[in-house]
Amino acid sequence: MTPVDRNRKVVVVTGASAGIGAALARELARQGRNLVLTARRGDRLDGLAAELRTTGVDVLSVPVDLADADAPRTIIGSTVAHFGGLDVLVNNAGFGLPTLFSEAEPSDLRKQLMVNFVAPLLLAREATPHLVARHGTIINVGSAITYVANSGLGAYGATKAGLGYWNDAYRRELRHKGVNVCLVEPGPVKTEFFDALMTYAPASGEYNPLLDAPLPWMTAEVNDVARRIARLIDRPRRRLRVRRRIVWPFRMLGGLFHLWPWLGDVALSSVVSHFDKAGDLNRRQRGGSLGDAQPTD
Ligand SMILES: NC(=O)c1ccc[n+]([C@@H]2O[C@H](COP(=O)([O-])OP(=O)(O)OC[C@H]3O[C@@H](n4cnc5c(N)ncnc54)[C@H](OP(=O)(O)O)[C@@H]3O)[C@@H](O)[C@H]2O)c1
Repeated sequence: MTPVDRNRKVVVVTGASAGIGAALARELARQGRNLVLTARRGDRLDGLAAELRTTGVDVLSVPVDLADADAPRTIIGSTVAHFGGLDVLVNNAGFGLPTLFSEAEPSDLRKQLMVNFVAPLLLAREATPHLVARHGTIINVGSAITYVANSGLGAYGATKAGLGYWNDAYRRELRHKGVNVCLVEPGPVKTEFFDALMTYAPASGEYNPLLDAPLPWMTAEVNDVARRIARLIDRPRRRLRVRRRIVWPFRMLGGLFHLWPWLGDVALSSVVSHFDKAGDLNRRQRGGSLGDAQPTD
């Protein structure tokens, strides 16, 4: 095995046990970055870490639940103890709830706010002195869903819209200290994100645009998304929009609904009431909470 090079950049990736985070970790290892991988599923992190170490990079895995208040301090503390500092924080972990807001379990909503919104901010807060010392980068994974307020993912979209607002504010705060803050806004990507939503079988076979997984033509390829995110470390951008055919119509719809909010209300409300009458939205609720379903293999 190649000896570990301590001069390589150190990148912390949250949500590294699956999807975009795991693909990003592989891409970053290919670029020769040392890595800190974090998520709840420690077995997956350890497997990925062992795979990536064979490429000559140093990899630390930190299994934690980002819904825990101590998690940000644990992640950054372990990173600094092992590597002596860090260069890049990628706030990638996140999940959606497969239900309308009015049907969601309050405990799931609290968990979603913690993982998607509170933890990224607190991680950045813990990491900032180290990032300032190394003129580093924060990369926040938001979502293109913020263009149109979708009732099926309302609380999820709110966490991502909040993340986007804070991203811009923090970029302005840290600019003169030489720290870059970038927002990634993917459209649909085929990952376990949608598997988790589909844990709840639809009542009818009908395609439900609010809660169903996107159709293949709408979906970006995970390794392509990961490559584009990895490039931000050397070529930072304020916003990285991961293009896919669905994103542009979505943005145009968002523009229209911004100009004429009543149009958005009529369009989205009629979809909700259609599926609500069919009982589809309620049926998806049964079988427990997503917070419990998410971490299983
Ligand atoms: N896929 C899409 O279409 C899409 C579109 C726009 C934005 N995004 C965003 O992209 C990011 C990555 O999503 P993905 O598509 O890669 O989803 P994914 O395949 O479901 O991966 C989600 C990652 O987040 C981790 N995670 C979830 N809950 C956690 C918790 N409580 N504590 C710690 N880690 C947790 C999961 O690890 P464990 O389960 O092991 O904890 C997993 O590694 C998310 O922020 C998502 O909102 C995705």
